[in-house]
Amino acid sequence: MIAIGADHGGVNLKLAIQAYFDENGIRYKDFGTNKTASVDYGPIAAQVAHAVANGEAEKGILCCGTGIGISIAANKVKGIRAAVVTNAFCAQATRQHNDANILCLGGRVISEVEAVEFTKIFLNTPFEGGRHERRIQQIAAIENGEL
Ligand code: RB5
Repeated sequence: MIAIGADHGGVNLKLAIQAYFDENGIRYKDFGTNKTASVDYGPIAAQVAHAVANGEAEKGILCCGTGIGISIAANKVKGIRAAVVTNAFCAQATRQHNDANILCLGGRVISEVEAVEFTKIFLNTPFEGGRHERRIQQIAAIENGEL
């Protein structure tokens, strides 16, 4: 299951991604918003991030105006590696190298077509492990106050 959420700045991308999920039978849990009325991204980021961190969701997708605010918020949750992605290369690389578990997209930055394209890449690209595993462990060590 994929956890998905957005604020008003990213709701257009979220709805496009959900349409792709519906068409392809991909299970997801919708944490809102589904409206263009202004809403704060923090609580939405927190709900999606906790769903991923506690294993309820396999991965998460968060959208705001830039993808940045909602990624900063999500990255405050232990175990979350939320990546802002603006092109296909980064969608692939952040899975291969960073084992990113939340994809963050900006509704004022990329198109709905690009959002679906980056989502497909993100969900279908495995982590490479190897030398990158050590780097992921270092990120966790920072989180645990060990670095
Ligand atoms: C909302 O206006 C906007 O600040 C938000 O969507 C996001 O871009 C923040 O990083």
